Amino acid sequence: MKKMAILLVLGITALAMAQNEGAAAPGGEAGRRGTPGAGGLGTPGGPGVGRRGRPQQVHKYEGLALTPPMGWNTWNTFGCNINEDLIKETAQIIAASGLKDAGYVYIVLDDCWMTRQRDENGQLVADPAKFPSGMKALGDYIHDLGLKFGIYNCAGTRTCAGYPGGRGHEFEDARLYASWGVDYVKYDWCNTGTANAQETYKTFGDALLATGRPMILSMCEWGRNEPWTFARPIAQLWRTTGDITDKYSTGTRGTGGYNNGWKDILDRQAELKLEQYAGPDHWNDPDMLEVGNRGLTVAESRAHFSFWCILASPLMMGHDVRQMKDDILNILTNKEVIAVNQDVLGKQGYRVIDETGREVWIKELSNGDWAVCMLNDSAADAEMSLKWSEIEALGGKTYKVRDLWAKKDFGTTAKDYSGKIGTHDVALFRLSPVN
Ligand code: GLA
Repeated sequence: MKKMAILLVLGITALAMAQNEGAAAPGGEAGRRGTPGAGGLGTPGGPGVGRRGRPQQVHKYEGLALTPPMGWNTWNTFGCNINEDLIKETAQIIAASGLKDAGYVYIVLDDCWMTRQRDENGQLVADPAKFPSGMKALGDYIHDLGLKFGIYNCAGTRTCAGYPGGRGHEFEDARLYASWGVDYVKYDWCNTGTANAQETYKTFGDALLATGRPMILSMCEWGRNEPWTFARPIAQLWRTTGDITDKYSTGTRGTGGYNNGWKDILDRQAELKLEQYAGPDHWNDPDMLEVGNRGLTVAESRAHFSFWCILASPLMMGHDVRQMKDDILNILTNKEVIAVNQDVLGKQGYRVIDETGREVWIKELSNGDWAVCMLNDSAADAEMSLKWSEIEALGGKTYKVRDLWAKKDFGTTAKDYSGKIGTHDVALFRLSPVN
């Protein structure tokens, strides 16, 4: 039995531990308005049409994330240890290494970029020791490289690391970000007391919209209030779980606070059937990538990346690009794999086979194509096989098969797959209908 009782007990304990007081730590089709290029901004709160045809208010600048956003964020590797030089060096490498060309454009400063207090006018201040040139200059530097600028704050009174939060300052903060040339705001959920998540994020969404500058809103309330049920008119992406860590699994099944392995988070997406809530301009966010970080083998990084592509997840890198080895760069820039993530149909993939040691996930792509990902979930390398007829969604039709990591055509689905897959590694295929 794969779903071992012990894992459940561990998961429940972790959840209980994470769900202490308020929100101290993560644990824990709207009408088109303000479309860029359409010559105008949406006014906050304009009417649109909801999923079931009911009128719905729109609180975001639409059309900014028709495919999942891609970029890099400071948090997973650097935590609070960030500064101007790090950001500039990283941006340079992203621009020059092929990462930008592969689609990674958002450079996002996470927590700890500020001073501990607002200034005498109530404005946020970039820490002058870490960012001596200031945020406007940093934004310009990033833009000059053809990249986009992202920043973090929190909906509570303080950020998770204890810096000034946005509560009660939503509109002035949004104007400040716009004046710095910010393109993307990640907005966290620490220290929010009894605040209502939907209302709080709506207010901030309206504040961003009111600036007139197109800015993506990345909601980060860890799935506490089921954002997938209400966030579509508010944000381009919303976190679905607590924080990822650079492990395959820590046994939380995605309900841990700061300590979820990527496989735990993957399981949680399946358990919640989150695929039904995602689409162009509104994505589930299973947290940023740990690809290339110390706690994962190269195979685990490759499998993690494959699944984040299958999930139509935002692809925000979280490693030190200055130390990046070629095998990691090759994973992150595999264009055929990225095409699975960026497919314009915008469908999130889902699990179709869940056996001891073997899982198969599929994602519908445009033009009748499918992506199929088979995971070796066991602790040893294994000979694995897949009968295409096991996947009902393929409808018994014949497809050409391309192995996206081997970069080889495999023939057609007339022949079943078998091959060696390393522990915690995957085989990833793209199937295209044979006419
Ligand atoms: C929370 C978020 C993380 C990160 C930290 C910063 O834990 O979930 O992604 O932003 O806060 O303090």
